[in-house]
Amino acid sequence: MSPTAIPLRELPRVRHRDTKHLGGLIRPGTHRSPLAALGDRFVVDPPGFPTMLVTRDLDDVWSLFAAREDFSLGKVLSRLSSHDELFGTRTLIFLDGEDHRRERRLFAPAFQPQAVLAYEDLIGEVVERVLPSWPIGQPFEFLRAGYDLAIGVLLGVVFGTMPPARLARLCTAVGHWFEAIESRGFLAVTLLTPFLGGYTLPYLPLRRTQAHVDAVVLEEIADRRATGRTGADVLSRYVGTDSDRHDDAGLARDMRGILLGAYETTAMTLGWIAALLAGHPEVMAEVDAAADAGDTERLDTYLDAVVAESMRVRPASPFTARRAVRDTVVNGVEIPRGTMVIVPILMIHESPQHYPDPLAFRPERFLAARPETRTWLAFGGGVHRCLGAQFALLEARVMFRAILRHRRIDVTPGYVEPPRRLHTGISPAHNARITMRRR
Ligand code: HEM
Repeated sequence: MSPTAIPLRELPRVRHRDTKHLGGLIRPGTHRSPLAALGDRFVVDPPGFPTMLVTRDLDDVWSLFAAREDFSLGKVLSRLSSHDELFGTRTLIFLDGEDHRRERRLFAPAFQPQAVLAYEDLIGEVVERVLPSWPIGQPFEFLRAGYDLAIGVLLGVVFGTMPPARLARLCTAVGHWFEAIESRGFLAVTLLTPFLGGYTLPYLPLRRTQAHVDAVVLEEIADRRATGRTGADVLSRYVGTDSDRHDDAGLARDMRGILLGAYETTAMTLGWIAALLAGHPEVMAEVDAAADAGDTERLDTYLDAVVAESMRVRPASPFTARRAVRDTVVNGVEIPRGTMVIVPILMIHESPQHYPDPLAFRPERFLAARPETRTWLAFGGGVHRCLGAQFALLEARVMFRAILRHRRIDVTPGYVEPPRRLHTGISPAHNARITMRRR
């Protein structure tokens, strides 16, 4: 290590009895956590856990994201969450180094700007299909609708056009699998995992429902191999191409991994957007003015700002992290191998240095300028930055544009649902209960 680097022991350290306040860093109002008073960098050493450096110093954060060979994201996920049970440890987000680069190159074309624009019609069609089933004039849980929307679009992106009977079976299987993931039982398993050294207890409903999803996907893969059927979807980038290195079971698992990674974050984001709109009459008034005038350009511009601001105040992943795979130095701080460096995304988003009056929901901040990558971290950063970022932003805008063309949202000034923890993210506690009316 460098002789001039600061060792972790010289940084402020959280007392053992205060480690319970770590949860406060992933709930809105992070400044209320007593840990916020420790400054931009502090060390936490909970018994039985790896040492953690929490840093909201942006030079630290970006040095960390740049030090791709010294850190792993997968090793954080395996240690702190049940992700390896859900995704398997060979999916993109778990990979490092050359394996990661190769796999990312393979997926990337499906999510480049031109490819993403091609999904616009599909997103609009899914909204038109799902929207008529939502109640008018009665409260309903928009988060549930968000799940339907997200999965409808994702199945199209990942699997393209599939025989209708098989698609119906896949939808049912995926629905049951997601129910198992969101069940209290599996949430308890997830919460226990970090205390068991990263071991995720087997949860049979999850394994059973996962196997059903895989069975339908394997059927689809076999059919494509037999018929040569292909398209612009993600699966087509593998089956029967030069990239077809996976065994079929591995391929089915990877496709399932993309569905899951994209689905929960997208649905939570859509849920928060609805909940925040319903709590802010001045924002809804601007949305209504653009929608009533039929001014798509004005509506799109404003919705982009609403989406960015929603993801600033309620990022679906309120933190990300990397684990050091060797002794290293990040922006002058010594990081011993095994240390986890935590990037408190929400805390950075709530910093008054970067965003004046940071707790206020004010889309106007992003009207003149798009979010700045350095301080707006809802999709993480560096080599693992969310591959679906552009897609997710387009999806949210196109969905709300299509919804608001037909519906208004009732407002309850000053009320925004509190958050509840869902795996590694935060979600509206009452599933974003809103009331819609016909426009
Ligand atoms: C609003 C919705 C979404 C949010 C908030 C979100 C957030 C994130 C975050 C925070 C990461 C980790 C980045 C890091 O630690 O640097 C990530 C990674 C990833 N996301 Fe997303 N995501 C969203 C939607 C999607 C969608 C729609 C897709 C694909 C269709 C997707 C695919 C991925 C993949 C493949 C990775 C791993 C990238 C890698 O390891 O190279 N995400 N996402």
